Amino acid sequence: MTVSLAREDGIAIITIDNPPVNATSHSVRQGLAEAITQITQDTSLRGVILACTGKTFVAGADIREFGKPPVPPSLRDVIAALEALTIPVVAAIHGTALGGGFELALACHYRVMNRHAFVGLPEVTLGIIPGAGGTQRLPRLIGMAPSIDMITSGRRVAADEAFKLGIADRIGEGNLIAEARAFLATKPVVRRVRDLIAAPANFAELRKQVKARGQTSPVRAFDVLEETAHLDFAQGMAREAEVFAELRNSEQARALRHIFFAEREIAKIPEADAKPRPVAHLGVIGGGLMGTGIAAAALLSGLSVTLLERDQPSADLARDRALGLLKSSVERGKLAQADFDRIAAGGLRTTATMADLSSADLVIEAAFEDLGVKQAIFRDLDKAAKPDAILATNTSYLDVGAIADVTARPQQVIGLHFFSPAHIMKLLEVVVPPKVAPETVATGFALGRRLGKIAVRAGVCDGFIGNRILSAYRKQAEYLMEDGAAPAEIDAAFRDFGLPMGVFEMQDMAGLDIIWANRKALAPTRDPRERYVRIVDLICKSGRFGRKTGSGYYNYAGKTPTPDEATSALIAEERKHRNITPRTFSKDEIMDRILLAMINEGARILEEGIALRASDIDVVMVNGYGFPRWRGGPMFLADEIGVKAVLRRIEALAKEDAWFWRPSELLLRLAETNGKLG
Ligand code: 3HC
Repeated sequence: MTVSLAREDGIAIITIDNPPVNATSHSVRQGLAEAITQITQDTSLRGVILACTGKTFVAGADIREFGKPPVPPSLRDVIAALEALTIPVVAAIHGTALGGGFELALACHYRVMNRHAFVGLPEVTLGIIPGAGGTQRLPRLIGMAPSIDMITSGRRVAADEAFKLGIADRIGEGNLIAEARAFLATKPVVRRVRDLIAAPANFAELRKQVKARGQTSPVRAFDVLEETAHLDFAQGMAREAEVFAELRNSEQARALRHIFFAEREIAKIPEADAKPRPVAHLGVIGGGLMGTGIAAAALLSGLSVTLLERDQPSADLARDRALGLLKSSVERGKLAQADFDRIAAGGLRTTATMADLSSADLVIEAAFEDLGVKQAIFRDLDKAAKPDAILATNTSYLDVGAIADVTARPQQVIGLHFFSPAHIMKLLEVVVPPKVAPETVATGFALGRRLGKIAVRAGVCDGFIGNRILSAYRKQAEYLMEDGAAPAEIDAAFRDFGLPMGVFEMQDMAGLDIIWANRKALAPTRDPRERYVRIVDLICKSGRFGRKTGSGYYNYAGKTPTPDEATSALIAEERKHRNITPRTFSKDEIMDRILLAMINEGARILEEGIALRASDIDVVMVNGYGFPRWRGGPMFLADEIGVKAVLRRIEALAKEDAWFWRPSELLLRLAETNGKLG
């Protein structure tokens, strides 16, 4: 029984109980339809309350049913029957009323909200538009402009804003059913949103606010709102249904559903049953961009932080830098001034003495990216930290096991790879060396959750998941460049595909010197069969390291970056030197090769057990490397294209470069069995 009906003093109370989030699965729709029929037949009733058990009101339609044929009764029919009741109906909203859940609440004649509750129509984030009347009822209730904002962004609106907008009729705390009863006692009249008229709007102006970045659904949602603004309710509902049905199984909707579930799967790790250790006090070693970003992320989450630098002036500078990041959080409305003042007064301590880290529950090292440097730090840290403290390194490439092994507590050493700027970027790779204890891994994940991060488990290898894939497609981009494509052409292909920037722009931003240092470090282990492009080394040898020096692949002298002439000449020279006759590549050809490089490396990462699931790789690429969310990630794309077809393309390219394009064993195996990566 997912829906129950109780009658108390002339009030019918419909309760939905469908864990985990009370989605409107088939049994809920069926149960609601039956409850509504019973209410219609009972003339002794004076009002209806619709409420939910558990942590939330209805969080939407059941997304798991989307790929399957619809089974009646439809949510739209249930909602219409609820709205048609002739006694007042009140929704009692706690937690989040989202998507179909909010649409259900909009069909109620009134809404009582818990002070901490949220409402929203996040359908566009799943590649669809509201499909159960949201595009028709919301504008009639609160007007067109705020509806466009909510529907095309998918953002959640908190109770106080919902009250101001006219969505909530009453805000309550404590027993929400009692609040709804008290509201019904005021004898409200039956008021159906569908009978209201939406205020007119300046659509041309409002269209400019729609942020789509290649995604179809926000634009389609806007189109429906505009097209139906002058239609009656029934016609508007019909148009909404058409577009909803059209988008429901679109490629983008499938991709966005995939990433929605993928981001929930990442928490399912072998160490899930281990008990995380409490972390209240965080130590951070290194006050550079990364260390201060990590400190800011921790402070924003209410942890206290001690940050270590090599001497007092550097420690003071690090303090200014960390507080500067938090100040910008105040300016962006992410942190209250009072909390900033509290942190500035005591939450953040900076020091130049390792012994000051002795009370930290977990210490994250974010020093220079060099194995020797990190091992030396960990030897000292092992002596200074309290015995049960967990020690983490923020390395982005190095062997975490080799760092753990210099300590007397390798079971308490882990990799926590943050992405810059660490107080903003959501991704965290939790890198698991061989001797680590399950509770250390569980603590890493718990810390990630506390910091609001999307934590993905990764095994130890050069670059873990994300940087290893980056290294593969960066190489491919370099081959394309040496074979004839200009860096700007390659970058344009990345942007057209939906990435925020191209691979060369990104390198210029990160600093070519850092890439150069890494290449030099890896030189002794490079396989002689690997094609090696020297261009970035030559740019660096001329003292040009990208943005920070004013030139690299691009020149930054003017207002907008332009292809750097010296680099263009250098590329031409290098082609001549290698007897390469430049070829042209279309944008599609460029992205095809880049994606195949990502997929092939991703498959290797999977076959080696570095990532637990193909979908974990997609989560990393989407949240750390700008891979467009609405494309689902490289592994999702591989399954959409089909592993066999992917393999055929890789094998064709292997005729040009057998080493780079040697196919992963996993792809070969899956192609044989018609299997999938995900
Ligand atoms: N359908 C099916 N399963 C859902 C779901 C949904 N709408 N929403 C959440 N779940 C599942 C999750 O997959 C997860 O399952 P798991 O435990 O097996 O991994 C479980 O519920 C718990 O979810 P979270 O881990 O996300 O729990 P949180 O407490 O962190 O967050 C939430 C709760 C805010 C409700 C969040 O789950 C959420 O945002 N859900 C999606 C809401 C949404 O997009 N609704 C619109 C759906 S489309 C729609 O309604 C169309 C309509 O217009 C016709």
